Amino acid sequence: MSEVKSIGVVGSGHMGSGIAQVVATAMQGVDVWLHDVDSNALSKASSSISSSINRLVSKSLLSQGAGDDALKQLRFTSNLEDLRDADFIIEAIVESEEVKKSLFVKLDKIAKASAILASNTSSISITRLASSTTRPRQVIGMHFMNPPPVMKLIEIVRGADTSDETFTATKALSHRLGKVVITSQDYSGFIVNRILMPMINEAFFALYTGVSTKEDIDTGMKLGTNHPMGPLELADFIGLDVCLSIMRVLHAGLGDNKYAPCPLLVQYVDAGRLGRKRGIGVYEYGKEPKSSSHL
Ligand SMILES: NC(=O)c1ccc[n+]([C@@H]2O[C@H](COP(=O)([O-])OP(=O)(O)OC[C@H]3O[C@@H](n4cnc5c(N)ncnc54)[C@H](O)[C@@H]3O)[C@@H](O)[C@H]2O)c1
Repeated sequence: MSEVKSIGVVGSGHMGSGIAQVVATAMQGVDVWLHDVDSNALSKASSSISSSINRLVSKSLLSQGAGDDALKQLRFTSNLEDLRDADFIIEAIVESEEVKKSLFVKLDKIAKASAILASNTSSISITRLASSTTRPRQVIGMHFMNPPPVMKLIEIVRGADTSDETFTATKALSHRLGKVVITSQDYSGFIVNRILMPMINEAFFALYTGVSTKEDIDTGMKLGTNHPMGPLELADFIGLDVCLSIMRVLHAGLGDNKYAPCPLLVQYVDAGRLGRKRGIGVYEYGKEPKSSSHL
């Protein structure tokens, strides 16, 4: 792939704004277009990126000049067509196959012929997203971890038709972003969620069947296995709805009942107990939720 001069990020929510920040701070001189259909989400992203960059500058993790340059490289738009010159487009919109596919159809028409279309999906098949475009060889999974500016890993997912050139270019881009890369074939849950989500689901079963209290389950995994957060605490951080939808993808995609979601997880989601973002999940959070060891 020729030199990357412009990158588009679609979806300016939690992940998309973090990804745009990572690209702007790591790739000097590269235009970063951040698109969302919701203009409120764009303004929220603009202020959260500014304060995050200012925080990095105040902690001397980024120079004032580099911080100013990164902010100047960022462009916020509600017009998808503004991404027409992007060399690389990273999609980070809502986790719905139908909505993502319809976006990929549009991106396929708008993006230049050489552009690579990457998805930050946690669980949706890259092969199926790719098949909605006329360029399946140039479609790939680029799964950032939450929050993107802090977490070192990118899980690259090769769809059935992803070309070696696309894979090599995506790996090179990930390294330029300062990340460590792992590679997965396109099977449900990829590597990280295939292993993490059944563990979280099992923690729900332990709570559901009265094995122990939520506090002891989390303390057991933190101090007993050196995890920075307990599985129930982590589920609240990720979002219980997100955990449930990934369990359903594993269950349907791998066809094994060992992936059936725990009834307690289903019930919490039905009750709107979605975790930190709702102020209540497995735990209750006040106005000032306790800070996460991931942040
Ligand atoms: N939250 C996590 O821990 C995490 C971790 C890794 C990957 N992911 C994946 O990243 C993606 C985004 O997750 P998030 O947590 O940032 O979600 P989010 O809800 O914070 O943000 C999604 C954004 O997408 C926008 N959007 C929806 N449809 C759109 C469209 N058609 N065009 C443009 N914008 C649109 C919404 O307005 C919203 O601002 C999902 O695929 C998710 O599975 C999430």
